[in-house]
Amino acid sequence: MPDDRMECRTIEVKPLTPTIGAEIFGVDLGQPLTGQQFDEIHAALMRHLVIFFRDQHLTIEQHKAFGRRFGELDIHPTTQMAGHPEIIEIKADEHSKYVAGEVWHSDVTCNPVPPMGSILYLHKIPDNGGGDTLFINMYRAYETLSDPVRRLIDGLTAVHDGDQVYRIRQGKTLTTPAPRAEHPVVRTHPVTGRKALFVNRNFTSHIAGMSRLESDALLDMLYRHSEQDEFKCRFKWQPNSIAFWDNRCTMHLAMWDYYPQKRYGHRVTVAGTKPC
Ligand code: SIN
Repeated sequence: MPDDRMECRTIEVKPLTPTIGAEIFGVDLGQPLTGQQFDEIHAALMRHLVIFFRDQHLTIEQHKAFGRRFGELDIHPTTQMAGHPEIIEIKADEHSKYVAGEVWHSDVTCNPVPPMGSILYLHKIPDNGGGDTLFINMYRAYETLSDPVRRLIDGLTAVHDGDQVYRIRQGKTLTTPAPRAEHPVVRTHPVTGRKALFVNRNFTSHIAGMSRLESDALLDMLYRHSEQDEFKCRFKWQPNSIAFWDNRCTMHLAMWDYYPQKRYGHRVTVAGTKPC
């Protein structure tokens, strides 16, 4: 594995903020990546946690092939494109009652093995602007907590409940129960070895072993702490941009500030490992 400060020979990396996010230039993701390109893109992802590409023109098969360079592709528990179960269609228009990702979250943390990363490709963005995606560095969120709070949450686990998102908030009719899982409140990233806060407003229902009052108060404090601007970046989409984020150490939020305008795209989700 190359060092995350490796000098890039095949791509150019321009940080978006000192804390999180970088734009990557000089690569066509529609073509198979060389080993060196893969290493440099992976290193940029490990270092900046979310990376962005402009002016990419990918077929569905090329999008899946790019995702597969980083691991198996996950199948989403409720949202699959006809004929391409690995693809989630991101679709907002005048008929939408909600949009995917409008509450801070890391993807599908209700799964016992949540994804490593997600690769979102938007081809249609709102005509008059809006529809940005915001990201949070969850390493920094953890590292900037006080020692007593870190000691309190290290070793706790939390329940993540798909029902509260898919059935209750999004009003979907599901034929099988939505996934539900218990994960550490603080996880260790399997590549970088750094600790990251791993709870989110969308999926986390409660901290195990606490009363509802205790759990709600602690989670609320952790969310408000994480959502400070100093841990964030904000990506302004153009048609044919791609965002690739590491779900193990980030949260994100899709701004829905453009109704009734249209915003369309596709996402693939790369499988992860059990949080520990
Ligand atoms: C998502 O949570 O994957 C959606 C993000 C977005 O549409 O910007």
